Amino acid sequence: MKRRIVTCVVMQVLVFNSSPRRGRGATAGILNRFLKGVEDAGGKVELIYVSDLDIKPCRGCFTCWTKTPGKCVQSDDMAELLPKMDSADVVVLATPVYVDGMTGSLKMLLDRFIPLESGKVELIDGHCRHPRRSGRSGDKLVLLSVCGFAEMDNFDSLVAHVKAMSKNMHRDYVGAVLRPYAWALGMPERIGIEIGDIVQALEDAGRQLVEEGRFYPETLATISKELLPQQVVAQMISSGFR
Ligand SMILES: Cc1cc2nc3c(=O)[nH]c(=O)nc-3n(C[C@H](O)[C@H](O)[C@H](O)COP(=O)(O)O)c2cc1C
Repeated sequence: MKRRIVTCVVMQVLVFNSSPRRGRGATAGILNRFLKGVEDAGGKVELIYVSDLDIKPCRGCFTCWTKTPGKCVQSDDMAELLPKMDSADVVVLATPVYVDGMTGSLKMLLDRFIPLESGKVELIDGHCRHPRRSGRSGDKLVLLSVCGFAEMDNFDSLVAHVKAMSKNMHRDYVGAVLRPYAWALGMPERIGIEIGDIVQALEDAGRQLVEEGRFYPETLATISKELLPQQVVAQMISSGFR
C-alpha cells in the first residue's frame, strides 16, 4: 500500500499587545476573542506584552547597517525578538489609540526592527526601500486597535501609519480590527447593550485570517458597529472623570 505524506504548514502568528493594562485592558478584551478564532483555525499564537520587555530606544547609530550587519549594539530583549519577528508568518500589532496613534512603547519596539533590513536601498514599486536581509516575502501584518471615543476617524492616523509601515517592513497589510469605545464591551448588561454578534465576529475574523489570509468587510463592520449614540458615549466617559 502506498503511503501518502501530508505536509501541514502551521501559520505562526506573533502578537504584540502594547496596552500597559496588559491582560486587563480593553485591547486584551477584543484581542483574546480574535486569537481564539486564530487558534481554533489551527494558527499558532505567541502573545507578547510589550510592557514585559526590556527594550531600549533605537540610538540611530546605524551600527546594525555598518560594523555589525543585522546586529544591534544594545543588549536587551531585542536579540531574542529579531529572529521571531523575521520568521513570523503574521505579526499582529495590538494597541490602544494613544493621542491619535499607537502607544509609545510599541513604536519604540518597532524602531528596533531595522537590523532585519539591509542598509542598502533598492527601488521597489518606484519607492526607496531597505530590502529584508532574509529575502522572505508574503508575510503579513494585522492591526488590532481600540479607542475611547465614539468616532471611527479616531483610528485614521494609526491605520495610515500601519499601512505605510507594512510596506517599510515588507509585509502585506491584511487589514485592521477596530473597536471604538471598547470599554463599553466590558459592561454590556449594566449599560444595556447586546454584544454577542461582536464577540462572534471577532472569532470569525481570527478564523478568516488563518483560513483565507483576509478579513471579510462585513465581519470588520460588525466589530466596529455603533452600539450607543455619540452623545451617550461622551456623557458616559465624562461621568467617570474630572
Ligand atoms: C495617554 C492616553 C491617550 C489616549 N488618546 C486617545 C485618543 O487620542 N483617542 C481616543 O479615542 N482614545 C484615546 N485614549 C483612550 C484609550 O484608547 C482607551 O481608553 C482604550 O480603551 C485603552 O485600552 P486598554 O484598556 O487596553 O489600555 C487615550 C488613553 C490614554 C491613556
